[in-house]
Amino acid sequence: MVFLMAGKGTLSVFDTGKAAAAFAAESWMKACRESAQTKGYFAAALSGGRTPIHFYRVLSDNGKGLPWSKTHIFFADERYVPATHKESNYRMVRERLLSHVPVPEDNVHRVRTQEATAERAAETYEQEIRDFFGIEGDRIPEFDLIMLGIGEDGHTASLFPSTRPLEDEKRAAIPVAAEKPPYARISLTLPVLTTAQRIIFLVAGGEKAGVVREIVEDSESRLPASLVKQRAKNVQFVMDEGAASLLTLGIRPRRSFYDRL
Ligand code: 6PG
Repeated sequence: MVFLMAGKGTLSVFDTGKAAAAFAAESWMKACRESAQTKGYFAAALSGGRTPIHFYRVLSDNGKGLPWSKTHIFFADERYVPATHKESNYRMVRERLLSHVPVPEDNVHRVRTQEATAERAAETYEQEIRDFFGIEGDRIPEFDLIMLGIGEDGHTASLFPSTRPLEDEKRAAIPVAAEKPPYARISLTLPVLTTAQRIIFLVAGGEKAGVVREIVEDSESRLPASLVKQRAKNVQFVMDEGAASLLTLGIRPRRSFYDRL
C-alpha cells in the first residue's frame, strides 16, 4: 500500500521486510539509470545495519546491467573499525553488493578508518566528498540518493538523539560518539542528508513501530530521523507492516502493491 504524505514524499508499506527491500532496490535502480542518463553520474550513499541486507542482495542479483561506471558509492555512516572488521559497513556492503557488480574500484568512496582517529577519518572523508563534487568551503554536497535506516531511538546514519550540533553544522562528515557499540563512528551531517535529491528510509520490524509513528506523524519531533523527514526535499519511507503497525495513517492511500509482489 502506498500513501502520499503531506507536501512531499511517499510512504509504502509491504507485508514483509523482503518485499519492502525489493521495492527500495527497484527505486534505487531507477534513480541510478535516470541520474546516469541525465547528469552523467549517480552519487549515492548507503547505510549499514541489518535491514538493508536483502536490499543489497536484490541489487546485486538484478542490478548487474546498471551504469556502474557512472555510479559512485559513498557511505551515510561508518563505524570506526578496520575495513575487514565484522562491524564495518564498508565490509558488509562490499560482501553483499560491491563484489557482485562491475563497479570500478575508484567509484567506491569509503571512510578511511585506518586514519589515526575518527576525527581524522571524518576529515579525509569530507575531503573526498568535496573533491568528488568539486565544492569548497562550507558548501554542502548534493547526493542523488541517500539510503537510510532508522534505529529504535530515532537515530539515522550515525546521528543519534544526543549528537550535537545537528542543525548548524557546516561540515559534510563528522566524528560521532554513538549511543550503541561500536561507539566511535563517522557520519554524514544533517545538512548533507537534507540536501540530497532523495532520501529512502528502509525500515522493518515491530520494534521500530513506536519511533516510526513519531517520525512520520509528529511534526514537532526532534529525533534525528524526524529532522531529516521534516527538511529533506523528497523522502520515501519504505517499510514492512510491523514497522507501520502503530501508524494512524492520516495520509491518503494511492494504490496497492500487494498484488504485484
Ligand atoms: C549503522 C547505520 C544505522 C542503521 C540503523 C538501523 O551503521 O548502524 O547506518 O543508522 O541504519 O541503526 O539499523 P538496523 O537496520 O540494524 O535496525
